[in-house]
Amino acid sequence: MCGIIGYVGKQNAVPILLEGLARLEYRGYDSSGISVLNGKGNLHVIKKIGKLAELEKALSALHLRSKMGLGHTRWATHGQPSDLNAHPHTDCTGTLAVVHNGIIENFQELREELSEKGHRLVSQTDTEVIAHVLEEILKENSSVEKAFESLVKKLRGTYALGIMFKKDPQTLYAVRNGSPLVIGLGKRECFIASDVAPLLKRTRKVIYLKDHQWAMIRSDRCGVKNFSGQKIKSKVEHVSWRLEEAERGGFEKFMLKEIYEQPEILKNVWLGRMDLKKSDVRFGQEMLSSREARGIERLFIIGCGTAYYAGLCGKYILERYTGIPVEVDLASEFRYRTLKLSPGTAVLAVSQSGETADTLASIRRAKELGCRIISIVNVVGSTLTRESDAVIYTQAGPEISVASTKAYLTQLSAFYLLSVFWGRARGEMSLMEARHLLTELIKIPEKIQWVLDHQDPIKACARKYYSYRNWFYLGRGFNYPTALEGALKNKEVSYSHAEAYAAGEMKHGPIALIDRNFPVIAILSQGGVYEKMISNIKEIEARRGKIIAIANPNDKVVSKFVNDVIEVPETLEELSPLLNVIPLQLLAYYMALYRGCDIDRPRNLAKSVTVE
Ligand code: F6R
Repeated sequence: MCGIIGYVGKQNAVPILLEGLARLEYRGYDSSGISVLNGKGNLHVIKKIGKLAELEKALSALHLRSKMGLGHTRWATHGQPSDLNAHPHTDCTGTLAVVHNGIIENFQELREELSEKGHRLVSQTDTEVIAHVLEEILKENSSVEKAFESLVKKLRGTYALGIMFKKDPQTLYAVRNGSPLVIGLGKRECFIASDVAPLLKRTRKVIYLKDHQWAMIRSDRCGVKNFSGQKIKSKVEHVSWRLEEAERGGFEKFMLKEIYEQPEILKNVWLGRMDLKKSDVRFGQEMLSSREARGIERLFIIGCGTAYYAGLCGKYILERYTGIPVEVDLASEFRYRTLKLSPGTAVLAVSQSGETADTLASIRRAKELGCRIISIVNVVGSTLTRESDAVIYTQAGPEISVASTKAYLTQLSAFYLLSVFWGRARGEMSLMEARHLLTELIKIPEKIQWVLDHQDPIKACARKYYSYRNWFYLGRGFNYPTALEGALKNKEVSYSHAEAYAAGEMKHGPIALIDRNFPVIAILSQGGVYEKMISNIKEIEARRGKIIAIANPNDKVVSKFVNDVIEVPETLEELSPLLNVIPLQLLAYYMALYRGCDIDRPRNLAKSVTVE
């Protein structure tokens, strides 16, 4: 996730672009840059690693003036944060500039093709290839319009693009395929942006560019075409959001926005990695090899909080498909254990931020013990990525809400991909099994969307139960970690005492607490432990506990004895954690809302825990 801004009009673009970038910084903030045309009509590109203040400092000395320009704030996906990897990117001749949000899936093969033709690419990004592909196309085709038609045929993946040409100082181009892009229509000035937040101060009239459309934008007009070259009559819409609302995409809180982003983000995790035709998974840049997969005799997964729970679910997934014995530990415990590890032991660290002190200390310890370190991380360029031997990026984009939601889901997704890769490489997973898992996996985003679209029962439960102070969350097998994660969300954002148990453990003590004032969330989706769960929950019913079931729509049994049912679509038991956690995130969110809690910034917490 990155932020794009563009301006064409009568004013100086530079301060407008900077102001726009400040409004987009929540979309990414590891580096930023702008491209403008200077007084001599030359294309000027200024880019800086770090927060926007670094770019502002660099620009203040240059006194640039330009009536058109593009800006970008980056959230790295390919290549570490650096001046060179920051956007905009240019071609060999410096005649065009491109900013991009999304992922170009086939960038490696395009890069090789371009290098063979003599292009010199200076960054590690997927975006830079777009500039050079366009340069190559324009050598044979002087019409920009035709060039775009050829360009989109060559690119695979998702992209929102802003493009400007040195020879055309009054026209900005915008292209959309899978990543958002809005055109703002002002008085003799126009804008492009990743969302409406940076536009609101300047105009409320916008066109939402749709997938497979591109636009030619001048100060006084804007023409939209589809990828086949047909003119499109786009609807001009009026935005009534307040500025703060706009940054959150109209959602009341970042937590809710991030919950809603999940279906889209999951598709990003699959992109370029899942090969449905071959029923396989490939990891391009992650430095994971099949040979290494065959050599792993034992695996430790470590993490903290939500990342630890993702690791716990990862254990069930990897053991199911790869045959590797897995142990999961809290990073704060692992670092102090007395361990003798054999050479075949690998350590897999899970972390959204890549900066969590205990996780870093653990991998350093594991390195001393001679283990190879693999990590599942969201933030590119973070300390954990630099100290790991191999990294799987979760590509969730910046997570602003302190309570983790989309990071958890992408961490689980990384485990499913890894299980196919390792399972196939080790000969533990058949082709049929891989095909079955992957085919069901790609249906998950639309099933999550179904949960998001049918949340009335979740809201009703939140209303009914938000004043209860003590909760149990119960699950078994793959969904025991889901119960732990659901309880953590409840604790964090609505400050209730919520404990999770593997349901079979209840009778060994905790069931003593059950009475009619104790709501129990029971994860009862179909699968091998369903009947065992039913027996465990019957014991709660017998003690008059209030039971809220997370169950599949066709379940005729559960509704007969529980107090409330929240439905989730059916999927493979192995994949059900991806769906069952969604109502638990929403339940925690709405209960916190009804309790009047500060959801995005819960008390006593910090987003990144960099102290022990
Ligand atoms: C919970 C939450 C925390 C983090 C934990 C690890 O919603 O966000 O429990 O999961 O502090 O952080 P990372 O993943 O950055 O290592």
